[in-house]
Amino acid sequence: MSVPHESAHGHVTGEAIYTDDAIARHPGLLHAWPVLAPHAHAMVTSLDATPVLAEPGVVAVLTGADVPGEGDTGANRRDEPMFPTEVMFFNQPVAWVLATTLDAARQGAARMNVTYSALPAILTIEQAIAANSYLAGPLRIASGDMSVLASSALRIDDELDIGGQEHFYLETQSAIAWIDESGGVAVQSSTQHPAETQEVVARVLGLPKHQITVECLRMGGAFGGKEVQANVWAAVAALGAWKTRRPVRVRLTRALDVALTGKRHPYLARYSAGLASDGRLEALRLELFSDGGWSLDLSEPVMWRSLFHCDNAYRIPAIEVTGRVCRTHKTSQTAFRGFGGPQAMLVIEDILSRAARRLSIPAAVIRERNFYRDGDVTHYGQQVDEARRMSVIWTELKKTSGFDVRRAEIDRVNQTTPHRKRGLAITPVKFGISFTATFFNQGGALVLVYRDGSVQVNHGGTEMGQGLVTKVRQIAARLLGVSPDRIRMMATRTDKVPNTSATAASAGTDLNGAAVADACAQIRSRLLPVAASVLECDPTAVRFDHDMVVGGERARTFAAVCEAAYRQRIPLFAQGYYRTPNIHFDQATGRGRPFHYFVFGAAVSEVEVDGFTGACRLLRTDILEDVGDSISEIVDRGQIEGGFVQGVGWLTIEELLWDAQGRVASAGASTYKLPSWSEMPEVFNVSFLERASQPDVVFGSKAVGEPPLMLAISVREAIRDAIAAFGHGEEVRLHSPATPERIFFAVQRVRAEAVRGLKEPEVTEVTD
Ligand code: MTE
Ligand code: MOS
Repeated sequence: MSVPHESAHGHVTGEAIYTDDAIARHPGLLHAWPVLAPHAHAMVTSLDATPVLAEPGVVAVLTGADVPGEGDTGANRRDEPMFPTEVMFFNQPVAWVLATTLDAARQGAARMNVTYSALPAILTIEQAIAANSYLAGPLRIASGDMSVLASSALRIDDELDIGGQEHFYLETQSAIAWIDESGGVAVQSSTQHPAETQEVVARVLGLPKHQITVECLRMGGAFGGKEVQANVWAAVAALGAWKTRRPVRVRLTRALDVALTGKRHPYLARYSAGLASDGRLEALRLELFSDGGWSLDLSEPVMWRSLFHCDNAYRIPAIEVTGRVCRTHKTSQTAFRGFGGPQAMLVIEDILSRAARRLSIPAAVIRERNFYRDGDVTHYGQQVDEARRMSVIWTELKKTSGFDVRRAEIDRVNQTTPHRKRGLAITPVKFGISFTATFFNQGGALVLVYRDGSVQVNHGGTEMGQGLVTKVRQIAARLLGVSPDRIRMMATRTDKVPNTSATAASAGTDLNGAAVADACAQIRSRLLPVAASVLECDPTAVRFDHDMVVGGERARTFAAVCEAAYRQRIPLFAQGYYRTPNIHFDQATGRGRPFHYFVFGAAVSEVEVDGFTGACRLLRTDILEDVGDSISEIVDRGQIEGGFVQGVGWLTIEELLWDAQGRVASAGASTYKLPSWSEMPEVFNVSFLERASQPDVVFGSKAVGEPPLMLAISVREAIRDAIAAFGHGEEVRLHSPATPERIFFAVQRVRAEAVRGLKEPEVTEVTD
């Protein structure tokens, strides 16, 4: 169905309200600004707020002494003191200033007297490994006989550096808190996980959860960056409101947001891969190190997802994969679309394309040769159901994109253009759907039908632009047989549906849509006998359709049936609930069935690389994605296009840098290049796999939020293909992201190798 995004009009006119737009509703509001530590690692030796309080407009300074409960906002481990005595990353807030204007708060923060005693800082994964500085791990999954590695016909041993990524959601982190009429605290927060934000606020204030209400109107993007990292700002606002009894607002400026919040984890991968001479993968030993930053955050489940996805779409008979989360003195890295999957999948794709070069087998052939077949089992023991979809997608996409013809054409044209080369690549994605922490896989809903037949839908999911609200509304409309505009989607609130999960892991619609469907089905079954008696027909003949209830020869409006039900004292509201069936995983053995199902997709990308500058243009991308039966085609298309382009940014132009002091050097849009129009593929074809209904999910639809991001690996592989064309087609060693600089130096290397006429390239020194 082609229903536009429920807030599309609001988004483009500016009428859609976000958390911070509500400040005008709060007279007496105070603004908060942090006191920032100018060290990556240091002890706080003294803290004196006297000069701050003398600053005009300053109302209060928040320090550890103000915390009535527990001053720690860590979500998965209590390792995030709100008011640290040991500074753990550059610019970490050590206190907060509240003032009547933002300027006054800022001035006040600058006057805080803090003394520090600086300590040595760990700023890279290599330093962390040398210092044995880890937050978690080793996590491990092993299966098969690793001894084959020693006898494989082809052995590739190497390292791959993988850069991180800044979320750069348009709406920066924000929260407003005030004392509500019962003396508890109400919080409006840009959070993917209102229930956890509520938990952290309750913890800090030392109050039971029922005293705290958290509401999320919508987010201007989150991408995982507000899955747990929204909590701390809400806690600061709530603590400020608690202390001053006035509403308090925290909204990070872009510069603060980049400096203080976690990013996609940079990774270091060390691997040994063994392949047969026909390109079949035989064994993979993989050690992954992520840069977790200063606290644990979600780094452990992110690493688990890496371990689960190091196979991507390929059957690898023997795998031994371990993951460690490095502790460094940097922002605490966190969830980001793909959640550790992208980094791991990059490694296996890197290996396969290098193997293709060494074995002189086309990369597309090697990839396809290694696909899982129906009945195959992953290294963690889950059978890959519907594996054939991968092969179907591959064949179909190669055909529709004209892959073979273009391959030949590009190879021909490249002969004639010494300084410009085109590259072409096709890569697959297989992505597991479900939270890897099994208990998160539940959703709740509360659906209210009024006597006039209008409907309010509440559920635990949050809207961040991904179209969850649009889809859930369509689900409710279909089940109740009413038009979508009869249904009002309510903001997400912890007092409507309690104990909810984060909207993440792409499972928002699967979980909350199914919970809403459950509630609507209950209401419908209660309305059935009422309708049957009003329409004087058999209940089995009753249909709910287009705001009408039809049965036999008669019809009544939905509203009339609701009114009749009310008069018969039938409740017109219901709670809905859903838990994902049949999933489990045992971390100790590394075995289980962690995913409800897999999403499959593939992309073909064509690029052109300029040998003089390393600049790269994305000429064309074709995507074929398995979304099951799409609930909302426009939304799904938007997710595929947006996810893909976000992935292209991560792999090509977005380069996260920290300076020698541990400051984020790519500190804003001027030093951190985001994809824009010019990075869109000039030709962009997106289609859905047909006849792909998924059993056991709401309306046969599949998750779509994250998997398309990893289709961007096709662009990186196309770039390597183009680079190889500058030489004699030998393998290309390339760290990530493939920035113009890295591309330029890689071109220099393959050219030098071609001149030397070496068939087997020496391992060249890394240029970065
Ligand atoms: N799309 C938009 N426009 N904005 C976002 O912040 N987040 C992504 C994805 N798509 C995001 C987005 C991430 S990280 C996830 S996990 C899913 O949306 C979450 O929503 P869903 O479960 O409803 O798909
Ligand atoms: Mo998405 S990274 O699971 O919020």
